[in-house]
Amino acid sequence: MKKDLLTIKELTKEEVFSLFEDAKELKTNPGAHRQDLKGKILAMIFEKPSLRTRVTFEAGIYQLGGVGIYLAPQDIQLGKREAVEDVARNLSRWVDGIMIRTFGQDIVEKIASEASVPVINALTDLYHPCQILADLFTIWERGHKLEEFTLAYVGDGNNIAHSLIWGAAKTGLHLRIATPEGFEPKREILEEALSQGADIKLFHNPVEAVKGADAIYTDVWASMGQEAERETRKKIFMPFQVNMELFSKAKPSAYFMHCLPAHRGEEVTDEVLDHPRSIVLDQAENRLHIQKAIMRRLMG
Ligand code: CP
Ligand code: NVA
Repeated sequence: MKKDLLTIKELTKEEVFSLFEDAKELKTNPGAHRQDLKGKILAMIFEKPSLRTRVTFEAGIYQLGGVGIYLAPQDIQLGKREAVEDVARNLSRWVDGIMIRTFGQDIVEKIASEASVPVINALTDLYHPCQILADLFTIWERGHKLEEFTLAYVGDGNNIAHSLIWGAAKTGLHLRIATPEGFEPKREILEEALSQGADIKLFHNPVEAVKGADAIYTDVWASMGQEAERETRKKIFMPFQVNMELFSKAKPSAYFMHCLPAHRGEEVTDEVLDHPRSIVLDQAENRLHIQKAIMRRLMG
């Protein structure tokens, strides 16, 4: 693997599946890996809130024998108190890896290019690679072949949608994306993935998109940083709500997936989120295992 994990785009198909094998081993035999990153330190930069990402990275590095240092938005004030490149150069003198959650993908790229230690993207406005690796691992560990699996993503063409696009391109997953007009994923990302042979189709009708799907995936309608748009987006996105009616249009065996946090009653109803075929908590658990696999690969 390269020094950093900034997008799924830069991974090969073999690297993706070998991370899945490693995550499976780490999940099955956690006790055998308590020293794998003994004494290693991960700096964890957060410019946005988090439950899952913070806890899974911090618990994960600890379980591998290392330690995480949580840096809250007010701590470093990236680019305000100190230039982004200076933060990267300083951290490189003290720690063995940097995890960052921020706004622009360019910030993550700048940190990666200036840091001598590995950098892991823990969500930007553009991508959320650790999430989608955990999600695809969740499908794979249930015995499904991704190249025979159709996932319908319904909602905003956001960071989750963009990472799903690269996840599909790398694994052969068949991807359907339904968004309101004007909220499609970025054209250049889609076109690049299609040119690499990905099977991805865009829809503006959620019912058409989920027909025959093996899973329906949704995410919040207003992402972190878009809070002011929440009310206007609610009106636009309501026809894209994943409720029992839409869920019943997919295969009878279809899973419901969500990266969480969920806004109950907006993009998903309680009935679907709490449904026996909802696998959202497996996705959340697998963040831990896949990120341990990523850290071990990059920091080991
Ligand atoms: N899915 C996810 O990244 O959750 P958090 O925002 O709570 O970290
Ligand atoms: N699209 C969401 C994902 C949260 C994990 C956001 O960026 O807020």
